[in-house]
Amino acid sequence: MESVDHSTVARGRLAVLSAHLAASYDQFGGVPNGILESSTCSAAVAPPPNLKGSLIVVDERTGKRYQVQVSEEGTIKATDFKRITTGKDDKGLKLYDPGYLNTAPVRSSICYIDGDEGILRYRGYPIEELAEGSSFLEVAYLLMYGNLPSEAQLADWEFAVSQHSAVPQGILDIIQAMPHDAHPMGVLVSAMSALSVFHPDANPALRGQDIYKSKQVRDKQIVRILGKAPTIAAAAYLRMAGRPPVLPSSNLSYSENFLYMLDSLGNRSYKPNPRLARALDILFILHAEHEMNCSTAAARHLASSGVDVYTALAGAVGALYGPLHGGANEAVLKMLSEIGSIDNIPDFIEGVKNRKRKMSGFGHRVYKNYDPRAKVIKKLAEEVFSIVGRDPLIEVAIALEKAALSDEYFVKRKLYPNVDFYSGLIYRAMGFPTEFFPVLFAIPRMAGYLSHWRESLDDPDTKIMRPAQVYTGVWLRHYMPLKERMITKAEDKLGQVSVSNATRRRLAGSGA
Ligand SMILES: CC(C)(COP(=O)(O)OP(=O)(O)OC[C@H]1O[C@@H](n2cnc3c(N)ncnc32)[C@H](O)[C@@H]1OP(=O)(O)O)[C@@H](O)C(=O)NCCC(=O)NCCS
Repeated sequence: MESVDHSTVARGRLAVLSAHLAASYDQFGGVPNGILESSTCSAAVAPPPNLKGSLIVVDERTGKRYQVQVSEEGTIKATDFKRITTGKDDKGLKLYDPGYLNTAPVRSSICYIDGDEGILRYRGYPIEELAEGSSFLEVAYLLMYGNLPSEAQLADWEFAVSQHSAVPQGILDIIQAMPHDAHPMGVLVSAMSALSVFHPDANPALRGQDIYKSKQVRDKQIVRILGKAPTIAAAAYLRMAGRPPVLPSSNLSYSENFLYMLDSLGNRSYKPNPRLARALDILFILHAEHEMNCSTAAARHLASSGVDVYTALAGAVGALYGPLHGGANEAVLKMLSEIGSIDNIPDFIEGVKNRKRKMSGFGHRVYKNYDPRAKVIKKLAEEVFSIVGRDPLIEVAIALEKAALSDEYFVKRKLYPNVDFYSGLIYRAMGFPTEFFPVLFAIPRMAGYLSHWRESLDDPDTKIMRPAQVYTGVWLRHYMPLKERMITKAEDKLGQVSVSNATRRRLAGSGA
């Protein structure tokens, strides 16, 4: 990983923010909207028709016929296949689906994606409209409770979240006790997990499995987590810069408060640049939810065991930490730096086509069209650059996108820019070190995790998640006394465990 002088980065951004503060803050009386000119919303596609019916399955092994029900939503129950068996020693048909490519373990009304059409909607609202007109906290409310809030509901919600934005001193002590170069995602995972210990009142293991049936208990954990996530993230950031944590401010919007904690250096009258705060808020909206992605599935999986919500979300953030999930935008920056200039693009594209490497930030498991979030981010990048200066790599990114989208290799495979293609450039322009990028993803995704957690609590179909497996091991053998055993395969042996010189020195002493 590239080494970064964090305090220089932070000072740099602070200088940029201060320079623009006077110029732009007065222009906007509050949170400025309209950063994004009206976007073309994703295509209007008719809702899926009623798909109810049945399948006739003929088992050619036995000649038997089975009728399998298809629901209105076009699903079949995996357990219906269990009865398809060849005889008493066959436990029935199983669905083998590594990576869950075509398995839906939940029904959800939170988020809709049509990857072929490039559509993303939260509770039915196109992402482009929300990015254009909404705020992150409004969107978090929408995800959580199903509808956009009224003015009074929004005020109560914002107040409740800000009232829970301080974190216990013990959490700050844990963060301070970590090495100075601790990865901020490691810090976030640990702090989320530690919150479980600090809130025993919300722990089903201690207070009984029914506690989350109470709306009051649920709502309290929701506002606590939404309030505390930016404070923990800011403490992790300040830890990297060698600075003490800053108390949150209750007079600022969600994103302004986050920037305030990063940059105020304890000056209570400090106000972040509102246009940058709005840009960050839009990035938060775009990252808030994405249905059953790896980390949200992890949140649901953990929560299905009945564990407390803090531990469930610590597990989810752990999944997000992985480079295949939350870390791809960092790879995009490395790739653009390697390409360096527009002249080198043809050679690079040839290398991708010859399978020497992949093109980071392109392609998606679900989107086989332009990722709608990438479109919004591309526009947002221009707004951010107009404040903090243009990142020279943006020209390379735009030219690379153009070259790829007119090349048959990419067209044939439906490879388009994904959310990570431009987001890293914005984050870098805003002065965030690369290892902080996944944290900027994790903060808003808490809203998605929590809305899924809440939904799962009310879903009568919720069960402890316990996938099946296909056993491929030795069928049966009997215990053999130690002296009679023979080593069968070299690869089954414990490999060489490396011993450091320090251990050799210790072992050379007596009494070890
Ligand atoms: C996201 C990703 C993992 C999706 O993978 P997937 O759905 O399993 O798709 P596949 O890997 O089966 O790709 C299908 C074809 O497109 C090619 N392809 C996919 N993404 C590609 C990329 N970024 N660059 C070059 N070729 C790519 C594959 O080589 C494959 O070609 P083939 O059929 O000739 O073998 C994949 O597109 C990727 O690795 N992208 C780059 C990393 C990235 O940006 N991740 C962030 C996602 S938000």
